[in-house]
Amino acid sequence: MANNSFDFGMIGLGTMGRNLLLNIADNGFSAIGFDRDATKGQLLESSATKGTTVKSASSLAEMIQLLKAPRKVMMLVPAGPIVDSVINDLIPLLQPGDIIIDGGNSHYIDTLKRIDFLKDKKIHFMGMGVSGGEKGARFGPSIMPGGDIEAWKAVKQILEAVSAKVNSEPCVAYMGKAAAGHYVKMVHNGIEYAIMQLISEVYDVMKRGLNMSNDEMHAVFAKWNQGAMQSYLIEITADIFLKQDDLTENNRLVDMILDKAGSKGTGKWTSQDAMDLPVSVPTIDIAVALRDLSSYKDERVAAAALFQPVIKPMKNEEKVIQQLHDGLYAATIICYAQGLSMLAKASTELKMDIPLKDVVRIWRGGCIIRSALLEIFTKAYKKDKTLSNILLNKKVVSLVKKSNASLRKVIQLAVASKIPVTGLSSAIGYLDAYTSAQMPVNLIQAQRDLFGAHTYQRIDKEGIFHTEW
Ligand code: 6PG
Repeated sequence: MANNSFDFGMIGLGTMGRNLLLNIADNGFSAIGFDRDATKGQLLESSATKGTTVKSASSLAEMIQLLKAPRKVMMLVPAGPIVDSVINDLIPLLQPGDIIIDGGNSHYIDTLKRIDFLKDKKIHFMGMGVSGGEKGARFGPSIMPGGDIEAWKAVKQILEAVSAKVNSEPCVAYMGKAAAGHYVKMVHNGIEYAIMQLISEVYDVMKRGLNMSNDEMHAVFAKWNQGAMQSYLIEITADIFLKQDDLTENNRLVDMILDKAGSKGTGKWTSQDAMDLPVSVPTIDIAVALRDLSSYKDERVAAAALFQPVIKPMKNEEKVIQQLHDGLYAATIICYAQGLSMLAKASTELKMDIPLKDVVRIWRGGCIIRSALLEIFTKAYKKDKTLSNILLNKKVVSLVKKSNASLRKVIQLAVASKIPVTGLSSAIGYLDAYTSAQMPVNLIQAQRDLFGAHTYQRIDKEGIFHTEW
């Protein structure tokens, strides 16, 4: 191809970068990529679909030179200092009006700093969340761009073409001002952590409480995925139970995986930022805390030897499975409610103007937390764009009213059996507190005033009061 003729450039050709670039090329755009590791460039070219225009550049300078102006350059590199170093490498090569997109899971505060840094240089910068893992990147992710509106307009056509589609609508939309793209993706991941925690607790109840085999759990999750609970996370959970271990005889892989969950930080950031806002997201907090606790394997083994908890088997399998279904359904709605209420608060508090109706709409396809529930939420936000909490929507109220008794029952059974259901319990606790017209914190105010003269408000008079207790 001639000089200045490529539509889109990608820096970082790991699985995500490569797959997204191949997706872009499959959609008729000419795509060029660069990675310091030349083998990744070779892999990009060898994986390209026949007839598409895909090139691996030998240097960053070559890639920039081959892009059409204004240059659209996206990076998919690990979050943190590498993003800054790539930006610094790009600055001397770019011209005013060019566009840099950070498509990684960057912390939104870093994104704000980068927006500020690039503003004077007249280079457009867009923080953008991309969800859907490797397959999503290749065949249709959910894309969450935010910030520079000019940059969004310039890449809209490409992003709409490559994104997942639901009812032919693209799963990409402008997520708001400043660092809104990365903020929305952060909260997406917080919800992801919370739902995964809930599913793992249901798995624990099935495995240790009901003594179910992997085949039986597969059948139950596969069935759940056909109904109201349909979601990507339920679907992959069903599949996971069937996977054989390649390294041993007659074992399922899931049983050979060590019970220590890793994390890259987005769940923790969600919790930290929720506390700063402040907004209450207890199931996300618990999900982070439990991943952390899982890493204390040796201590847990020692504590188990000391306390010797005996798991009491559960009876009435059919009934409990239905309760698990309904209970997980209720708790999952409550996780979304927490995350979405956080976005509602952040939208005004951090002046990002996040369009919640578009957030839930583009989460219906491509992303890790896509589920049938998001169709219901999309309708809810279409009716009321300013809904501060999805639990205030009538349809959602009716769903949670129908299913929360099962959540309570499951928690009772699990606690009696000594199976930890901290995430499920946090969800019902949130629901009960959120739907309490009266909370017991009048007593906390009394205590604070007694020991520290922190003052309190009264229910019968305006003003601030203090009492010599
Ligand atoms: C996605 C995922 C993706 C990544 C998570 C994993 O939306 O495609 O969320 O971004 O797999 O960040 O996060 P942890 O490693 O922290 O679990």
